[in-house]
Amino acid sequence: MSNRIVIDLKFDPVAVRQALVTAFPDFEVINMANPANRERDLSGIAYAVCWNPDHDLFHRMPDLKVIFSGGAGVDKILAIPTLPKHVPIVRFVDDTLTNRMSEYVVLQCLTHLRQVSTYAAMQKRCEWRELEQPEAADLSVGIMGMGVLGQDAARKLQVMGFNVIGWSRTPKAIPGIETFDADGLDDFLGKTDILVGLLPLTAETTGIYNRTLFEKLRQGGALGKPVFINAGRGKSQVTADVIAAIRDGVLLAASLDVFEEEPLPASHPVWGEERIILTPHAAAASDERALFRLVERQIARFEAGEPLENVVNRTIGY
Ligand SMILES: NC(=O)c1ccc[n+]([C@@H]2O[C@H](COP(=O)([O-])OP(=O)(O)OC[C@H]3O[C@@H](n4cnc5c(N)ncnc54)[C@H](OP(=O)(O)O)[C@@H]3O)[C@@H](O)[C@H]2O)c1
Repeated sequence: MSNRIVIDLKFDPVAVRQALVTAFPDFEVINMANPANRERDLSGIAYAVCWNPDHDLFHRMPDLKVIFSGGAGVDKILAIPTLPKHVPIVRFVDDTLTNRMSEYVVLQCLTHLRQVSTYAAMQKRCEWRELEQPEAADLSVGIMGMGVLGQDAARKLQVMGFNVIGWSRTPKAIPGIETFDADGLDDFLGKTDILVGLLPLTAETTGIYNRTLFEKLRQGGALGKPVFINAGRGKSQVTADVIAAIRDGVLLAASLDVFEEEPLPASHPVWGEERIILTPHAAAASDERALFRLVERQIARFEAGEPLENVVNRTIGY
């Protein structure tokens, strides 16, 4: 095995190049963003760091030992037909990413609580009027997906005073948070005023945020109607149902960071929805330097015969 590592990150190429200047001092780095590397022989290489990798990448790496995901989600990697069956996939789990996601979640919850969009519209009309002001403690934020990101967001929402509840596939015991497992979904939804989606994309979670689910959220809470925030994956959400639910008064508003099709086409009606705060899959970016540090640590563990951390469970799909 040669000391070479393949990088196939469809991130900002300049940021990747800069982070690579000091990363992997013991390796020859083959950055697939460099056209000179497109036809390189990749046999004999044990490690690949990828995000949206080229579909023939794994086919070209017959000696691959570990795949490192450039992001927390691995749905795109798992969907690649040539993905080798027995090579472990390590997720990107790091405070830099977790903190960014919690910033996004807390920001969106506070934005809806403090009616920022309504005040912005009033400013345009030079309208001076104070709106009714519920407190965070008057609302329950229900988080779907109580993993690394969901649990950190929950803790930070609690600091702001929100009542937080959580839903996950398997039961959890988290101090101060009422939790529900897969069977408790309807009870969870019935207690939720602001729904936060932080689920990975799997067969079970595809299309899960749909009209039927929105209709089960609590009506008549401190904001009057429920709010939906999604920073998980776009294919978990039926965007047409979000729009319809807002127009019909099932939902008050939404914050959407992710969409079924990305980049979101300019013709999509969601762009024009006043009650939807839209961001371009920007809730929590991966910091390239932190990613490469994590990969270096995991390679050191692997080569010392220690177990890799944050390995994807292929059977459950995340
Ligand atoms: N928008 C962005 O910028 C951005 C950035 C980073 C990540 N993400 C997304 O955020 C997702 C979550 O990341 P993470 O690190 O928190 O993942 P994680 O630690 O693996 O947590 C996933 C959570 O979802 C739950 N879950 C999965 N399938 C479920 C199902 N069918 N029913 C109920 N609960 C289910 C898991 O339940 P258990 O606890 O029972 O296993 C777990 O609590 C990623 O997969 C990615 O798609 C988005």
